[in-house]
Amino acid sequence: MKKIEVKNLKFAYNSKETVINGLNFSVEAGKYVSILGHNGSGKSTLAKLLMGLLVPGSGEIFVDGKLLSSETVDEIRLKMALVFQNPDNQFIGSTVEEDVAFGLENRKVPQKEMHDIIFKYLRLVGMEEFYDKEPSNLSGGQKQRVAIAGALALNPDILILDEATSMLDPKGKREINELINSLRDVNPELTIISITHDVNEALFSDEIVLISSGKVSKVATPEEIFSDEALLTKNNVISPFVYQIKNRLIDMGIDASNCKTMDEMVELIWQSK
Ligand SMILES: Nc1ncnc2c1ncn2[C@@H]1O[C@H](COP(=O)(O)OP(=O)(O)OP(=O)(O)O)[C@@H](O)[C@H]1O
Ligand SMILES: [Mg+2]
Repeated sequence: MKKIEVKNLKFAYNSKETVINGLNFSVEAGKYVSILGHNGSGKSTLAKLLMGLLVPGSGEIFVDGKLLSSETVDEIRLKMALVFQNPDNQFIGSTVEEDVAFGLENRKVPQKEMHDIIFKYLRLVGMEEFYDKEPSNLSGGQKQRVAIAGALALNPDILILDEATSMLDPKGKREINELINSLRDVNPELTIISITHDVNEALFSDEIVLISSGKVSKVATPEEIFSDEALLTKNNVISPFVYQIKNRLIDMGIDASNCKTMDEMVELIWQSK
């Protein structure tokens, strides 16, 4: 079933520049989709449109087949959680604990369940010790972890991550990615839209929506996208290291097309000697 369907979506902040210029794509329930595109291509704008925080100039967004509109936005938003690109823009509580609590209060989670939920997710992102700290005093990466905990605590159907791990160190990124994958194991219905510049992260998604200047350039599997060097060059994307090596080997006449890891390619090079 289609969880999200975007049809001919257009949006402009002002009359000079159309930021989203006829966007079409859909996301099936339970899929993990990456949105990849250059700076200023409209990704964060798209995230806000999907959440109903901005209103389209024209075109439609359907969530579970229901048109997103002023009448349906409150109901639809209950299914979603967004982690903003800039974590400073999303803290409301005066402590980390209060901040995570705020989203739960909005969803009318009973007070007595709240404490356990808050600490469960703070623990998962490694931030439980900071529960009484002021969010504004945290480091960028710590803020992102709290924001991720706040989003996950809402137990959404649709999780939208806008560069949500951009300030995390490599270990932190890996941990959060593993955490998100483990949530998918628990809830196979969880739909994830991950806006990312990190091609190594996008590699693990089911599908990539490549956008350029507010339009969809291509929707395909990571395998297809990262094997298409002309497409990547055109869209200013550098493929993951493993694909750079793979594509070079193919250029050299070594059939690495079925290799998925560096180890497999090393093995292939040994065999081809
Ligand atoms: N509040 C705003 N008012 C006016 N223009 C805006 C506003 N927010 C974004 N823009 C413009 O809209 C375009 C798309 O911005 P957006 O933030 O959606 O891009 P992005 O793909 O998320 O970029 P990045 O990769 O840098 O995060 C840019 O040209 C930007 O300058
Ligand atoms: Mg952005």
